[in-house]
Amino acid sequence: MIKVAPSILSADFCKMAEAVENLKTWNADIVHCDVMDGVYVPNITFGMPMVKALRRYTDMPLDVHLMITEPEKYVGQFCEAGADIVTFHPEVSKNARQALDAIRNCGKRCGVAVNADMPLEIALPYLEQIDLLVIMTVQAGFGGQSFMENCLEKARMADGIRRKGNLKFKIEIDGGVCPSNISLVKAAGADIAVAGSAVFKAENPAYAVRSMQI
Ligand code: DX5
Ligand code: ZN
Repeated sequence: MIKVAPSILSADFCKMAEAVENLKTWNADIVHCDVMDGVYVPNITFGMPMVKALRRYTDMPLDVHLMITEPEKYVGQFCEAGADIVTFHPEVSKNARQALDAIRNCGKRCGVAVNADMPLEIALPYLEQIDLLVIMTVQAGFGGQSFMENCLEKARMADGIRRKGNLKFKIEIDGGVCPSNISLVKAAGADIAVAGSAVFKAENPAYAVRSMQI
């Protein structure tokens, strides 16, 4: 069954504690935290203090997606703040391998993310080293964008490589995922689906979560 990781980017920023507590009652699996620096992407969200604050309100896994330049400078601090999974975009890292090791050495799960305009090739050198491969189905930067189905080809390719090489990483699809495209996401080999607006803007968020756990 696909795990659902709602992105708190679509929650009310004045009620973040309530948002993560709600996610538990809605039976979501993972909390997806989108960190943006205004440099790698044209938007700024939140940083380690938010992760640290949320850690006190939930025992759910915190999946921290870093959309920041030079992520290697900050991965350790996100681990210390209470992240369980830390992923970043390798093309803006000066030493991605070292950053992945640093996350591992903190006892956390690590991964790389492939933006919508990036080829899967940027992630290939790390597939044996990562726990999670994020394939983005929108251009990183904002919630609420429409799903780019053509990006799923990268997930299919990664799934093929994973099977062939008997590799262990999980595949997460991030961006524009909703109940009406979840079957495509699953068919592409996804293990985890990130969904921001499809959960937080839903009339019945618990139902939205359940309908994506297919
Ligand atoms: C985009 C973020 C996504 C996104 C998900 O830069 O990484 O996690 O906010 O939100 P929706 O599901 O609304 O696209
Ligand atoms: Zn994300």
